[in-house]
Amino acid sequence: MASILRILGIETSCDETAAAIVERLDDGTAMVRSDVVLSQLDEHSAYGGVVPEIAARAHVEALDTLIDEALKRANVSLADVDAIAATSGPGLIGGLLVGLMTGKAIAKAAGKPLYAINHLEGHALTARLTDGLTFPYLMLLVSGGHTQLILVRGVGEYERWGTTIDDALGEAFDKTAKLLGLPYPGGPAVEAAARKGNADRFDFPRPLVGESRLDFSFSGLKTAVRQAATAIAPVTEQDIADICASFQKAISRTLKDRIGRGLQRFKTEFPKTAEKPALVVAGGVAANLELRRTLQDLCDQNGFRFIAPPLNLCTDNAVMIAWAGLERMANGVASDDLDVQPRSRWPLDQKAETVLGHGKRGAKA
Ligand code: KG4
Ligand code: ZN
Repeated sequence: MASILRILGIETSCDETAAAIVERLDDGTAMVRSDVVLSQLDEHSAYGGVVPEIAARAHVEALDTLIDEALKRANVSLADVDAIAATSGPGLIGGLLVGLMTGKAIAKAAGKPLYAINHLEGHALTARLTDGLTFPYLMLLVSGGHTQLILVRGVGEYERWGTTIDDALGEAFDKTAKLLGLPYPGGPAVEAAARKGNADRFDFPRPLVGESRLDFSFSGLKTAVRQAATAIAPVTEQDIADICASFQKAISRTLKDRIGRGLQRFKTEFPKTAEKPALVVAGGVAANLELRRTLQDLCDQNGFRFIAPPLNLCTDNAVMIAWAGLERMANGVASDDLDVQPRSRWPLDQKAETVLGHGKRGAKA
């Protein structure tokens, strides 16, 4: 008879408080029973970025209610779940403490095992929940705090092939928006402005293009944007649109080169995969249509499938944390002791070298 594993997931690593109930059947298929997310965007927008203390307080205030809501929507009680999965890093330490302590308290009170989940592992495994993807595959994580190309070999087996050596891609969008006087978060504002702009007006640099390493760099691009804007100040609405369009074009070119090399490396290392090889995208910047077009073209040219999970599962959520917990359970990975500690820094690939400058904001994934 088919058995079902059911888990409560909790996510509090940055500025989204989230809880979810997810199930996994014997055949590996998933069923999302509930998915509750409360964004703190309004609390932080006045400051132009996430304020850690405000984030932690907001998690404390919301989390209990959100967990109740997730249980209610799934029509289950704590007695009906097999385990608790809580994000334990990387992220803002205050928020991580709130989520992990809550997870521990529930696990202890309900007598259930606890899984301390790496937030990046949540992003990395989401495509198995949405698309039933088989290992190995490549994952591009592009968010406000991370820009990484990761080889996903299996549950708990990750290799970081590339990372940013300075700003994360979302951060580059946010900083560009700020210096052009566009609202926070900058990504959607830059994308909207770019639609009306001339992408050929400014020839912005394409950092690291042509280099064989697979890393990324975006801070030079941001500096070039500042110089261009200063040189033509005061900028008109059309100038802003042209800068944004040219900025996105430079990013597309850079990503094409960097990720194109990643796809080639994948084909060399895995000449025979059971299915057509796949590139998965995750993180808030995955909302950007120009980026999606670029990645789709690149995949078409290289014989890859391009997989972009629905946006609510690309950005931060508790479904992916629950799913990572289920994958661990199904693989017979032992649960964590209740003295497990949150970790603000927690690379997915433990063997990867620390890259200076990468993830300065460190917290956001
Ligand atoms: O994954 P996410 O929601 O949060 C974390 O970073 O944890 O990503 C947020 C980032 C922000 O930097 C935001 O500006 C960027 O994603 N973003 C976009 C777009 N929508 C959100 N960047 C470019 N184009 C967009 N449409
Ligand atoms: Zn994230």
